Parts: sequence; structure tokens; C-alpha cells
Amino acid sequence: MGNFRQPLPFPPGRPAEYLPLDNEPKFNPSLHLALEAPSSIMSLDQLGYSADEMRDCESSFAYCSAFRILSVEGVAVMTEICDRIYHNRNTSAGTGANRLGSYARGAGYRSQFIRDFCDSPELAQHLSEIAQVQLGRHSVPAVACGINYAPDDITKAIDTWHVDSVAFDIVMMLSDPKTLKGGEFQIFNGTKHEGRQLLGIVGEEGKDAQLPDERIITVPFPDSGFGFLQQGTMIFHRACRLLERAKRITMIPSFEVIPADARDATNSINMTDWADPGIRPELARHEIWRATARLETLLDNISLEDNPQKLSDDINLALGSLVAFTNNLKDKH
Ligand SMILES: [Fe+2]
Repeated sequence: MGNFRQPLPFPPGRPAEYLPLDNEPKFNPSLHLALEAPSSIMSLDQLGYSADEMRDCESSFAYCSAFRILSVEGVAVMTEICDRIYHNRNTSAGTGANRLGSYARGAGYRSQFIRDFCDSPELAQHLSEIAQVQLGRHSVPAVACGINYAPDDITKAIDTWHVDSVAFDIVMMLSDPKTLKGGEFQIFNGTKHEGRQLLGIVGEEGKDAQLPDERIITVPFPDSGFGFLQQGTMIFHRACRLLERAKRITMIPSFEVIPADARDATNSINMTDWADPGIRPELARHEIWRATARLETLLDNISLEDNPQKLSDDINLALGSLVAFTNNLKDKH
């Protein structure tokens, strides 16, 4: 039987495009973390979600105010590492599928320090208490530890209005927010359906457009090393364009609900078309892991009294997202 209460380990090796850093400091949670509690927490129903719309969510947590995550020393080390990775960031030119201007997903393949930070049980436990559900580092390395840089062309939004493809993520500011003009992180004060409807978009596609000012909440970041947690699949959000050229680096570590047989909002179908090297095998591992956990739970729960309809429904539920993922892969090259 697998261990479905701990995050799925990273796969062995790394995509050839990702260059590992040498001479990194070792991540030390007592030195580099300085976890504090958020001062406010919002729930999905406060954003207007109905009980029916929250049916597939394991937690009613929506988002919280930014709280300290990294110590001053942690910020210094992490910033230096992100600066080094900038030269090996992902290439998005020509794919058309990427919303972001400049980023490094899968940073844990390049940096052991980042991998250990994202994997730290102290961080996962802290976030679990905030979200009121058990979270573990996301099993897809591309999203487990992402870095966003400001785009070279500052007339472009850092990230347009969208929802995320993973249920939980933190947005952590590494740059000094006091030095930034523009570049704010904003949340639509409503449901994602309402936000999309106002902008006339569907699914997860982003749109660089204005929503009514009175419906927008800007999340303040008091200092570098602060971040906030969001249930990203339910929060319509964006990062605004910079008004002056500046260094703006955020880290976006992602998490999933564990144990692995819990409901999972990961949108593997959407991520299948991302340009990240290794993304499809990473997603396959995730879907296989979650389906295995659901099948093991089902194996324990099947009763000799179950009728054919129930058996069929339960098996289809356990396998559903794996089968959908596999079917979607068929036409890909
Ligand atoms: Fe996002």
C-alpha cells in the first residue's frame, strides 16, 4: 500500500533544459523560515459562492492576508537563488499557451534550496492550519515551486485575470514591495463565474482587462518575505503591470489536499498544453498517484451488498480524472 499521507516524491532526474545550481546554502527551517499567522482570513461564501458551488472543495477557505513566511536571511538567500535561475528561466516564446511574461516553473529541479523550502513539513503544516485542511507540496514539480519575474516589456500585465490550475498556492513577495510602482496583486471580490462573465471569457484563459474598481481587492504585502495563501482554483486574480521598470520577483509554491484520495482540483487537462519540459509525465504521475489512492480506499470499502450501479459509479469516480487525462493525451504529439 502506498503512502498517500505524504507528498509524492519528486521524480528522479530533471529535464535537460533545467540547469542545477551549485554552491547553494542548505535550507534550514529554523534559520530561513519565520512563519507568522495571517491577520485576516476570507471564506468562499464571503465571495458569494453557494454551498452547491463549493461542493467539490475540501475547504471553504478562500484567501488570507499576507503573513511573514521567510526570515530576513531566508529572503536574502532565496532572492540570490532566484536571480541565478533568471538566466535559466522557461522559454515561452512561440508556444502561445503561456499567460505569464517571464517565469521559472519547476524551480525545484534547479535549486535544492527551493525544493527543500517547498517540501518543508513546517510550511505545509502552517498552511494546513490556515486553510483548515491538510495540505502537502504539489506532486507536479512544474507548479510545486514556481518563480514569476517581471516581464521585460512593462506595458504587459505581470499576470492577467485568471484562476489557477491547482487548488492551493502561496504568492510570496521576494522583492521589496515598498520600491514597486504598480505590480499589485489583485483579487476579484466575487465568484470566478461572475468575474469571467464580466470579462466575457471561459475556462482558465487569462484576460488583460479592467473589472469594476469597487469589486477589486488589492492584497497588501508589508515587506519582502511575506506571502498569502489562496484557493487558487476558486479565486479570480491577477498581478498588475508595473508602472516603472523594477525588479519584482514572486514565488508561487503550490499545494494539494492530502491524503491523496481527497477531492483534487488540479486541472491536469489544462496543464497538459503547457510548454514546460516534462509536464506530461509529471501530470501522469500525479493522476496515477491520486487514482491509486482512490482505488485503494474503494478496495477497502466495497461491500458484498453493493449493487452493480453502485460498483460502477464508485469505480468510475475513482478512475474518472485519470481516464479523462489519458483520453486527452491521445491526440498530442
Ligand atoms: Fe494565479
